Amino acid sequence: MPATPLIAYAHVGKSFDNGRVVAVDDVSLDVAEGEFLAVVGGSGSGKTTLLRLANRLIEADRGQIAVEGEDVSRVDPILLRRRIGYVFQSGGLFPHLTVAGNIGITPRLLGWPQAEISARVDELLDLVRLDRAQHRDRLPHELSGGQRQRVGVARALAAKPRIVLMDEPFGALDPLTRDALGDDYRTLHRELGLTTVMITHDMTEALLLADRVAVMRGGRLLALGSAAELARNTDGYVGELLRTPRRQAERLGALLPRDGTA
Ligand SMILES: Nc1ncnc2c1ncn2[C@@H]1O[C@H](COP(=O)(O)OP(=O)(O)O)[C@@H](O)[C@H]1O
Ligand SMILES: [Mg+2]
Repeated sequence: MPATPLIAYAHVGKSFDNGRVVAVDDVSLDVAEGEFLAVVGGSGSGKTTLLRLANRLIEADRGQIAVEGEDVSRVDPILLRRRIGYVFQSGGLFPHLTVAGNIGITPRLLGWPQAEISARVDELLDLVRLDRAQHRDRLPHELSGGQRQRVGVARALAAKPRIVLMDEPFGALDPLTRDALGDDYRTLHRELGLTTVMITHDMTEALLLADRVAVMRGGRLLALGSAAELARNTDGYVGELLRTPRRQAERLGALLPRDGTA
């Protein structure tokens, strides 16, 4: 692993309701430059809180978080958020702004000249494989779920961040769309040299897309590793999470002929 991680959590904790709810509990975790990390875990396990602590949408109570080597508590949170891409679960698009308006929002806030923003929007539409002429001026409600998520990804990439955080970006989509978007995003991650942290509740998706998977439970980081490393983990909950992908792989292996000709 490279010397300086792009995101480093050290003994990070966050509680809500005057300490009654411990959302994130003493988590230490390094994300290397260029890494694709998936975060899995049940509902309420602290995934979203952990992600949002990195760009200070939520402030940590304890521990330290460094992004690109800088302690985030010493960085202006607005400037921090402008240099980290963020993809929301539901797309999180501004409903009254067109596709172009949504994608260009961060460059506009950063004061880019209009012509540059416009060129960047076109470039990003190509990147996420949406036809420029057809989609540029549409409103979010005129798009399919998959198209909205593509716009969400384009918007997150607009100001050329090195880091992209994604909170269940493809969770609400049908399996085929989800698979296509996951593959497309994985390609972008590699080609643009991004560092990505993606939350998903789907262990199969996590194993297929990510370099390493972090397993959260009750606010704690229960396990962290590649697919092979997780497979060797003896924790019962980790085993339970791996059961579905294992069973799917076995069934498909038995059903599909090896040479791919049906
Ligand atoms: N703003 C908040 N106020 C109070 N409790 C919260 C808040 N945000 C999250 N929580 C609680 O913290 C825990 C972790 O939540 P979250 O990080 O959203 O989990 P996940 O994304 O894994 O579903 C849950 O018990 C949740 O109810
Ligand atoms: Mg969540």
